[in-house]
Amino acid sequence: MLKLGNLILNVPFMQAPLSGYSDYAMRRLALDFGAPLTFSGVMLAKSAAHPKVLKKPAFRPHDDEHPVGAQILGAEPVTMAKAARALQDVGYDIIDLNFACPAPKVLRRQRGGYLLNEPETIMRIYDRVREAVSCPVTIKLRIGFDSGRKSYDNFHTIVSGASERKVDALTIHGRTVVQKFTGDVDWNLLAQIKSRLPETTIIGSGDLFNPQTIAERLAVTKVDGVLIARGAVGNPWVYEGLNAVLKGEPAPPKPSLCEQAEVIRRHFDGVCRLYEPIAAIRYFRKFLIQYCRLHPKRKQAQKDLIAAKNKTQLITAIEQWYGNSMLPEVS
Ligand SMILES: Cc1cc2nc3c(=O)[nH]c(=O)nc-3n(C[C@H](O)[C@H](O)[C@H](O)COP(=O)(O)O)c2cc1C
Repeated sequence: MLKLGNLILNVPFMQAPLSGYSDYAMRRLALDFGAPLTFSGVMLAKSAAHPKVLKKPAFRPHDDEHPVGAQILGAEPVTMAKAARALQDVGYDIIDLNFACPAPKVLRRQRGGYLLNEPETIMRIYDRVREAVSCPVTIKLRIGFDSGRKSYDNFHTIVSGASERKVDALTIHGRTVVQKFTGDVDWNLLAQIKSRLPETTIIGSGDLFNPQTIAERLAVTKVDGVLIARGAVGNPWVYEGLNAVLKGEPAPPKPSLCEQAEVIRRHFDGVCRLYEPIAAIRYFRKFLIQYCRLHPKRKQAQKDLIAAKNKTQLITAIEQWYGNSMLPEVS
């Protein structure tokens, strides 16, 4: 069980906010495969707070995907609170505050991971957001801005401040902002935080790709839960595997080509419902590249799949590389 304020999940993992990926199509698939909670990609608070923006279906949760979280990015407590309230009002079940993003344009605007240098700003944002909504509020952060002493102290100040305020969870990517996605993930530090703050829900993030290793991370560090990110892109089976392993069952075997084809088409079908045809096929290429990682002839399959210029060509390429498995027509 994983407790995020008044939201209780029956398994200790969730799908990460993934900018440019975790739209409704990916979120729906994750739920179908056993993820108990998913998140939107990060939204700029200034946009989410704007009344017109949340009228667009792409920014709203769908009726059949609860619980679903929204994540916001910004440096202005009032705007962050306004955005959180607006997102709660359109139906999101949990609000996550992003103090982790390492993208240069975000750092230049003194948002995301930059704010790890300013513990007081983070606390002011958190307090305002907490007042503005009744749903759980969580914080996503990294283990510091860089590896210097000051960053280390700031990180501990933020963690302690959030814990004293009884934040609903702290999701910690075990790398610094400067590291981005390189170098080792400091799971030892996550374990130390959990043992120091047993009452605070701690979610670990970083290099979680395989059900067996993920289960080991949970067992060894004793964090309350984990956030699955890149490990789920083109691989929703990771949730099925994780559910099995956590029950003490063996992880299911790698999906057959026929199952892979079915899931790729199901995902693409979802994407086609969200975007115009040309945009859908372009957008889906990055997922195809990841799906092909499971194919025994990865490079050749990938080359043909991403060369498809429309839906008919993509379906033909899928049939060619995964077999014609009498799949229902994609609508
Ligand atoms: C393409 C991509 C998009 C991401 N978008 C977000 C985001 O919108 N918000 C966020 O907090 N983290 C985002 N992340 C970070 C992940 O949530 C996660 O913390 C990080 O990838 C580490 O986990 P992993 O090594 O298992 O992928 C993103 C990561 C990737 C690779």
